[in-house]
Amino acid sequence: MDIMQAIEKRISCRAYDDRAVEADKLDQLAACIEEGNAAGGLRMVLVRPEDGGANLKLSGAMFSGRPSTYIALIAADDEETRDRLGYYGEKVVLLAEQLGLGTCWVAGTYDQSTVAVARQDGEKLHGVIPVGYAMAKMPLKQRTVRAALRKRDRKPADVYAGYASAPAWIRAGVDAMIKGPSAVNGQPWVLVDTPSGVAATLPRIKSTVEYIDLGIAKLHFQLGALNEGVEGSWTWGAGGVFTTE
Ligand SMILES: Cc1cc2nc3c(=O)[nH]c(=O)nc-3n(C[C@H](O)[C@H](O)[C@H](O)COP(=O)(O)O)c2cc1C
Repeated sequence: MDIMQAIEKRISCRAYDDRAVEADKLDQLAACIEEGNAAGGLRMVLVRPEDGGANLKLSGAMFSGRPSTYIALIAADDEETRDRLGYYGEKVVLLAEQLGLGTCWVAGTYDQSTVAVARQDGEKLHGVIPVGYAMAKMPLKQRTVRAALRKRDRKPADVYAGYASAPAWIRAGVDAMIKGPSAVNGQPWVLVDTPSGVAATLPRIKSTVEYIDLGIAKLHFQLGALNEGVEGSWTWGAGGVFTTE
């Protein structure tokens, strides 16, 4: 599965079966996490079964089954760090999808006290990403939750006013943004034109989590554009600009 297929196929997995994840797949995720930590100044930690991964308590109202592995999303607590956490965390999520694994960004509906990784001064636990195999058939409850949240999907032209007449690579970028995950599917980001290129802004910030959504959306846009042959990169933070090479 290539990364664009991973974007198409990925959903937030809220129903896990008890199949153990193979160690070589966990090693690949660990390598991706280490790269992200180094590039983004983060401390994401893969908590494997032997480290107590199955002790994470997810809300029973949202989740079924108990995955045996999770990623603790630990990093400093400023806006740009959250942006980078979204970007590099989503790289791990898309790799997991390519490996046939289910994941879900979880910032709210879990018990923080069951996360086994100690925090150092200045660090915050921003959330977790459970990792495991999805149940063969998604239970009705999880299907209903997802359908209700995805009803809020925004239209491409509401994300970027110039969408209809934009070049194919920008349209592909916006399409990939909309397919990505965001907290309560809020899709809080907007693209605007600036003299240096398109910029990703957050016009309606209600909490701190939108900056994680922003980083996720930046990665998706970049991958969509790349798939249309345009390579580029973002500057961090709200108002960050996409510069093509
Ligand atoms: C930063 C972030 C935090 C999230 N927190 C939660 C959460 O606490 N509980 C939950 O069930 N889903 C959570 N989600 C998953 C979103 O609800 C989900 O991505 C969105 O509804 C879109 O659905 P999809 O990911 O299945 O496409 C979170 C997603 C993101 C990006």
